[in-house]
Amino acid sequence: MQAASARDGVKAASVTVVDHPLVQHKLTLMRDKARSTKGFRQLLNEIGTLLAYEVTRDLPLEPVEIETPLVTMQGVQIAGKKLVLAPILRAGIGFLDGMLSLLPSARVAHVGLYRDPDSLEAVEYYFKAPSDLADRTVLILDPMLATANSAIAAVDRLKERGARDLRFVCLLAAPEGLAKFQGAHPDVPVWTASIDSHLNDHGYIVPGLGDAGDRMYGTR
Ligand code: URA
Repeated sequence: MQAASARDGVKAASVTVVDHPLVQHKLTLMRDKARSTKGFRQLLNEIGTLLAYEVTRDLPLEPVEIETPLVTMQGVQIAGKKLVLAPILRAGIGFLDGMLSLLPSARVAHVGLYRDPDSLEAVEYYFKAPSDLADRTVLILDPMLATANSAIAAVDRLKERGARDLRFVCLLAAPEGLAKFQGAHPDVPVWTASIDSHLNDHGYIVPGLGDAGDRMYGTR
């Protein structure tokens, strides 16, 4: 893992670029416009698993006594309540199965937001989350941190519902979106596989990979 270099006002300490060779290799395959819907979806799933590994690296452990077939010993387990995975619909769903394969007992919150194509503002159409968010670590999932409008709105909503320990996980981030997100929620660290060059006039990440939702679901 690499701390991102500080640019455009982004605090390096709160952004982690996951530069694992498997992640970078799979990301390049995903960017290729010739990748099939099936291939794109599978790769997003696989990267989801790898990002879940990285984003949980510092979770606190607590001692637990167990019995092996030979002796009693003190092992460790992850402390506290199960995590919450909070995909932002619809593209965030692409990370979900891959993450659940590593975190099978995690709870899932669904955050339904779409980008108004003219204003690029986030519009909420669905929200359902566990009631005890205040006691859990919440991983917000969205492959693309572009304008950051959806990401900021999702965190606003989860905080309103009591969440205090949040982490944002994406595949690609635009420097503009990162700066805006960190300005709005400096307490929420970000994990990403890449910080790309810039956002274009339509709010797409460049070089990017196009519309993640459309590529996952074969829509458009
Ligand atoms: N959402 C996407 O799916 N792609 C982008 O490039 C930006 C936002």
